[in-house]
Amino acid sequence: MAPKPTPQDKFTFGLWTVNYNGTDPFGGPTRPPFDVVEVVEKLTEYGAYGLTFHDDDLFAFGSTDAQRRNQIDRLKGAMAATGLKVPMITTNLFSAPVFKDGGFTSNDRAVRRYAVRKVLRNLDLAAELGAETFVMWGGREGAEYDQAKDIRAALERYREVVNFLGDYVLSKGYNIRFAIEPKPNEPRGDILLPTLGHALAFIDSLDHPELVGLNPEVGHEQMAGLNFAAGIAQALYHGKLYHIDLNGQRGIKYDQDLVFGHGDLYNSFALVDLLENGGPGGVPAYTGPRHFDYKPSRTESAQGVWDSVQANMANYLILKERAASFRADPEVQEALKAAKVDELSVPTLNPNETVADLLADRSAYEDFDPTAYYGGKGFGFVKLQQLVTEHLTGAR
Ligand code: GCO
Ligand code: MN
Ligand code: MN
Repeated sequence: MAPKPTPQDKFTFGLWTVNYNGTDPFGGPTRPPFDVVEVVEKLTEYGAYGLTFHDDDLFAFGSTDAQRRNQIDRLKGAMAATGLKVPMITTNLFSAPVFKDGGFTSNDRAVRRYAVRKVLRNLDLAAELGAETFVMWGGREGAEYDQAKDIRAALERYREVVNFLGDYVLSKGYNIRFAIEPKPNEPRGDILLPTLGHALAFIDSLDHPELVGLNPEVGHEQMAGLNFAAGIAQALYHGKLYHIDLNGQRGIKYDQDLVFGHGDLYNSFALVDLLENGGPGGVPAYTGPRHFDYKPSRTESAQGVWDSVQANMANYLILKERAASFRADPEVQEALKAAKVDELSVPTLNPNETVADLLADRSAYEDFDPTAYYGGKGFGFVKLQQLVTEHLTGAR
């Protein structure tokens, strides 16, 4: 039996996830969406901490001010009644026809100015709801054809706007940070800032890099054939893991948005182990929301949607429990030691060592026997991975 989630686990869900109606490029909806109040109630009942949304998820694109306000107030009422939080919101700059060539980087300047206005309005809403993270997923910021988009100009327009939005947040005194969500492709043939590495370099070029971090998504890095847990380790290394989108993906193909744990289970195990135990001294390396951005499968009924909500949280907690059992096993500790995993934390050079010092150290070269590594010293990584397998599958 999987442990029961509680708000302390900090699980959050996008309103667009549970309300995905099953539409794909080949067929229409398979189920109706839920009302936001019902979503808040259900998520609370299942032990979630929060709800996130795009402006257009809560009030349809083109709503009047009164319609918009009515929906915001209904959400606030449900939050007050249940205690559910809204720790993150984001802006839809991709669904309406106006955004087919992007929002911040559309070739059409009027579209870019409209996009910035839509985001400013949504930043005020984020502040009103107490959301501390503002995600920017630029799914339409890209191109299909190389000559159709001046990539350097597009990056410069992106930078211009993110700097402008940062100044806005600072001038208003909002307690909000931005999190850029990379994705290699879909819906555009190629998307700007396709991986977390591209986004890290971009963030470095901003006026206020401290205001901007990452919202990496499991499936997006895996669509690019990359190791998600390793990418998260690098994001943490640079202090840039501001938010995270958890889901499942099986290989390099379209964005599957499966339930977390229903894709690459080994990498999900490594990820949970890293998030929960990867800080100094084994404390959690990441303390923000564990946000699920997945799509309940197109085959599912309303009940199937709620089953998938529970499955996401259950899988995270199962993996957390498995990672704890892995860490607590003395044989694992021995195998980690034998594999010299901890030795990588020892600096390669001695304190203040100079080139002359290193050249004078005969043990480093003249007396070092590199041939001992042929048919001799192995690292024991396979044995370690087998222990991972046994803990992951519950064989231990
Ligand atoms: C996707 C993305 C989106 C974003 C969302 C929040 O591939 O569709 O993951 O779901 O996460 O728009 O910005
Ligand atoms: Mn996605
Ligand atoms: Mn996402």
